[in-house]
Amino acid sequence: MILFADEAAADVAAREALLDRAMGKARVLKPSERLRRGRLPASGLALVAREQGRLVGTVRLWNVEAGGRPALLLGPLAVDPTAQGEGIGSGLMQMAATRAAELGHRGIILVGDPEYYARFGFSSEATTGLIMPAPVDRRRFLALELAADALAGAEGLIVASGRPVGAHARLAA
Ligand SMILES: CC(C)(COP(=O)(O)OP(=O)(O)OC[C@H]1O[C@@H](n2cnc3c(N)ncnc32)[C@H](O)[C@@H]1OP(=O)(O)O)[C@@H](O)C(=O)NCCC(=O)NCCS
Repeated sequence: MILFADEAAADVAAREALLDRAMGKARVLKPSERLRRGRLPASGLALVAREQGRLVGTVRLWNVEAGGRPALLLGPLAVDPTAQGEGIGSGLMQMAATRAAELGHRGIILVGDPEYYARFGFSSEATTGLIMPAPVDRRRFLALELAADALAGAEGLIVASGRPVGAHARLAA
C-alpha cells in the first residue's frame, strides 16, 4: 500500500538518492533550480510517498512571485523508477494541488512535460506573459490556476520569494 505524507527531516538522503535515480545528476542544472537554491519549500508543501516504509516518491512546491503575483513553483516531482506507472506521481500531484488550495495559494507553475501535466489541468496559456530566470521551452512552461484568473494577464519575471535556508535555525534561536 502507498502512503502519502509530509516529508520528514530524516527523508533528505533517501529523497536525494531517489532524485538522482529518477532524473540523473544533471537535474541540478535545470532553470527551476535557480528558484529553489538556498530556499526552503513552501510551508506544508513538501510531500512524499512511501511503500512499506521505503521512500518511492517526492514532490515539493516553492514560493515565488510570478510577474508580481504570489504563486508556487512545483518540482521536482519524481517517482522511483521501480515504482513508476502505479499512480504515485498522480497521487502526489493531487495531494499537492489540494493542499496548496487549502492553504490559500492561487496558482502553481512548473516546467515539465505537457503530455503528463495536462491531466491535472496545467497548460501553457497562463504563462504567456511570464519569464523564467533562464531560457525554457515555452511549450513546457505550464501553470494551473487554483483560483479563477489567478495568473491572467500576469507579466514579468518569476522570482524566488520563499524562506531562505537557515530561517528555521534563526527562528528557533
Ligand atoms: C513523471 C513521473 C513523476 C510520473 O510518475 P508516475 O507515478 O510514474 O505516474 P503515474 O503512475 O501517476 O501516471 C502514469 C501515466 O503517466 C504517463 N507519463 C509518465 N511520464 C510521462 C511523461 N514524461 N510524459 C507523458 N506521460 C507520462 C504514463 O505513460 C502513464 O500514462 P497512462 O495513465 O495513460 O498509462 C515519473 O515517471 C518520474 O519520476 N519520471 C522521471 C522524473 C521526471 O521526469 N519528472 C518530471 C516530469 S516532467
